[in-house]
Amino acid sequence: MTTLTTAPVKPLLDRLFAEAEAATSPALAELSHEERERLLHSKTEYLDFYGRLKDLPLAVSRETGLMLYMLARNGGARNIVEFGASFGLSTLHLAAALRDNGGGRLITSEFEPSKITRARQNLTDGGLIDLVEIREGDALATLAVDLPDVIDLVLLDGAKALYPQVLDLLESRLAVGAFIVADNADDCPEYLERVRAEGGAYLSTPFAQDVELSMRIG
Ligand SMILES: C[S@@+](CC[C@H](N)C(=O)[O-])C[C@H]1O[C@@H](n2cnc3c(N)ncnc32)[C@H](O)[C@@H]1O
Repeated sequence: MTTLTTAPVKPLLDRLFAEAEAATSPALAELSHEERERLLHSKTEYLDFYGRLKDLPLAVSRETGLMLYMLARNGGARNIVEFGASFGLSTLHLAAALRDNGGGRLITSEFEPSKITRARQNLTDGGLIDLVEIREGDALATLAVDLPDVIDLVLLDGAKALYPQVLDLLESRLAVGAFIVADNADDCPEYLERVRAEGGAYLSTPFAQDVELSMRIG
């Protein structure tokens, strides 16, 4: 039995994923395709864009969530960093893995106050809040300080255009063998170029829907 597949986490995730799948946003529907694309790829307007989406969970898929749990368990992760908590669905998977690894520290980041409240409640309901530090504000600032010496696993799932900058903040602490999971990585070609560079610091492969899995090798 695992924390992920038993109560209270399993029924909580079942409910949250069902809600996520049913969620709609008038604010998103109002945006033209061009405007949405521009905001999605902007390095400066992400606060505005994600502010409009504050009522949407925008969660990883169930498959990606399960894979996050498995990667964290297999590597015996103790220190995990997450960029973009939203309502905390991915956070629940990662924290469940830490619990089953015997404990650890998960630093996550989110700037939208109402989402922070929901993530904290969900992690409390899942009995995992003691493993999670939610850093409130722009991750470019909150993940720039007080990080563990060694990071075992990273989830990049905030503003896509910032993936390279967030990686800059974390990279020197990534253990050899550490995994980085980047959701919707196709929206950041600069990031893909970096982690896929031949002879570079990572092995990297796309899988599932638009997810890039990279492993630090040197
Ligand atoms: C795709 S959602 C994250 C979904 C979450 N990982 C999950 O699976 O449940 C992206 C979140 O990142 C947040 N975000 C985007 N850019 C951010 C930044 N620079 N700093 C902090 N949070 C950010 C947004 O407010 C949004 O809630």
